[in-house]
Amino acid sequence: MGSFPHDAGDDGGIEVHLRADHRRLAELLDGLDGLGETERSEHLHDVVHLLVSHEVAEEEAVYPVVRRQSAEAARICDARLGEQAEAERHLDKLERLAPGTVEFEEELAQLRVDVLEHAELEEQSVLPLLAALAEPDREMLARRYLRARSLAPTHPHPGAPDRPPGNLVLGPVAALADRLRDALRSGA
Ligand SMILES: [Fe+2]
Repeated sequence: MGSFPHDAGDDGGIEVHLRADHRRLAELLDGLDGLGETERSEHLHDVVHLLVSHEVAEEEAVYPVVRRQSAEAARICDARLGEQAEAERHLDKLERLAPGTVEFEEELAQLRVDVLEHAELEEQSVLPLLAALAEPDREMLARRYLRARSLAPTHPHPGAPDRPPGNLVLGPVAALADRLRDALRSGA
C-alpha cells in the first residue's frame, strides 16, 4: 500500500488522522480471517506498512510535542511508546516465522490484541492532550504527521522484491522502520 486511501482528508487536527489510521488498522487486522494464502500475504503487507508508518510518524512528529506539555504527559508518552516498541518486536518475530505455523498464528494473534489495546489507550490518554492544543498547532501537527507517514517506503529497501524470498511473509520490518526514522531525522 503506497498511498493511504482511508485518509481523512486535509481538514481537521491531528486527532482525526490518528483515529482514521487506528480504524483502518483494526479493519485490516479483522480482515485477515478467512483469506486465501496470497490475499492474506498482500493484506499482511498492508498491515505492516500502515502500522510501521503510523507508529514511526507518531513517534517522530507527534509525541515530542505531547511530551513537552507536562511531566504527566511525558509519562503517558513513555507508556505508549513502550507499547509501540513491543508491537515492533512482534513484527520482528513474525518476520522470521513461516505463515501457517502455530508460532506465526500465535504471534499474529498477540500482535492484533496488542495493537488494538494500544490504539484504545492512545485514544484515551494522548488524543485528549492533542485536542487541548490550539487549533493552528493541531493543524501543523496533522501536516507534519501526514508528511512523515508518507515517507515510509513501500518496500524495506530499494529494489526489494514484491514478496520476500522463501516462506517469509513480511520481509525485514525493522529495516522499514529504521529507514523511515533515518529519513525523518535527516530532515527529508
Ligand atoms: Fe496510534
